[in-house]
Amino acid sequence: MKPVIRELTDDDRKANHRLGAEAFGYGPDRRPVELPPAGGTVFGAFVDGRLTAKIRVSDYEAHLPGGRTRPVSGVEGVAVHAEARGRGLLTPLFRAGFERAQRMGQPVSVLFPTAAGIYRRFGYEIVGALEHRELPVSLLAHVAAPTSILLRRATAADVDTIRGLYAEWAAERLGPLTRTGPGEPHLCADYVADPASATLAVDDGGRIVGSVRWTRGTGYDPESSVIEVQDLIGLTPDATRALWRFLGSFGSVSGRVDVELPTGDESLGVLPFEPPPPVREHRCMIALLDIPGAFGARRGVPGLQVDLPFTVEGAFAAGVDGDYTLTAEGAGLRCEHGSSGAGPVFSARGLAALYGGAQRCSGLRLTGQLHGPVDHDPIWDALFNTPMQLRDYF
Ligand SMILES: CC(C)(COP(=O)(O)OP(=O)(O)OC[C@H]1O[C@@H](n2cnc3c(N)ncnc32)[C@H](O)[C@@H]1OP(=O)(O)O)[C@@H](O)C(=O)NCCC(=O)NCCS
Repeated sequence: MKPVIRELTDDDRKANHRLGAEAFGYGPDRRPVELPPAGGTVFGAFVDGRLTAKIRVSDYEAHLPGGRTRPVSGVEGVAVHAEARGRGLLTPLFRAGFERAQRMGQPVSVLFPTAAGIYRRFGYEIVGALEHRELPVSLLAHVAAPTSILLRRATAADVDTIRGLYAEWAAERLGPLTRTGPGEPHLCADYVADPASATLAVDDGGRIVGSVRWTRGTGYDPESSVIEVQDLIGLTPDATRALWRFLGSFGSVSGRVDVELPTGDESLGVLPFEPPPPVREHRCMIALLDIPGAFGARRGVPGLQVDLPFTVEGAFAAGVDGDYTLTAEGAGLRCEHGSSGAGPVFSARGLAALYGGAQRCSGLRLTGQLHGPVDHDPIWDALFNTPMQLRDYF
């Protein structure tokens, strides 16, 4: 029987919670969310009148290099009733989610998969991760103490400054959420509710140049006590060093700092020891839903003037397959439908991987995600070499 696809209303609140709880193992304290959720919606697939599968789409905004921001569609809470799995119920749900995102001018869809294989056929590819590392506190105590930085605990009066610090860190990056988009308030609720969980680094001019959010674990046995750390951001090398050193000051009562950082985060680069590899990670995937919108928002390379014809094939999102021309005009990029010549042919997910800085053209060719003329490959690689770096798991 063909499923009925519709947006959930608050009458579906219990059914939505039941399906989510079964899929993700919610604890007893988790309250059912109001529907539709703020800044987004949940699409449900109903079979015989019963909610059988769902996806939540959220209206987020992401930073792009060059100080720009653009709307993006976040996908989360993807679940299919256990006995109904393997019947393709996600297909109409993603069609509905993509149509909504396109209507709302969100050229890129972002998600954190539990398994990447679920999403590749919808045009998603892995572009980075939110990585968890376990650092020995005793080693952090060896970070040289910068004399130019003072530390102090944040207060409610610092919330806007902490937001500003994050925005300054994010302004030259690809992908961090603005934390001000319609669906995003819950992502930084911790700061607003409990600013005292953050420590700030202040330079000798009185400017806040770093912050770290940390949660003191229980007990004082270094064997078992762990400090959880998020949003360690230093705008200067000294600020970053001061924050690591601060965490190292817990060495007598805590053995480990568990820190969450995006792939390639520079803060590990100031450590005087080789940081351990991640112990776990939330991988991040993107799909491109509007090629001119996605590429036109990116930054060019000063002095570069070139037309890059190309073709996209194998997309799931409507209207994405076809011919395009990407025009680099110095610092700006423009992308339009149609091309004047034969260019390389990207698979939709291969182009997503390139866009997210996760693959180069040579790698895409090896895996069959790109074929055709090679002469523009170095230009594509140069234009899209910025890694995707999200700090907010959803
Ligand atoms: C993941 C889930 C939503 C998939 O539902 P489903 O009904 O099997 O989805 P579909 O029938 O549309 O097909 C899913 C596709 O993903 C693949 N897939 C499903 N689970 C997978 C897994 N764990 N690892 C790799 N691939 C997987 C299937 O092989 C299939 O691809 P194929 O058609 O090429 O074989 C469902 O198993 C579920 O609810 N799981 C628990 C919650 C969860 O993990 N949600 C995802 C959150 S990001």
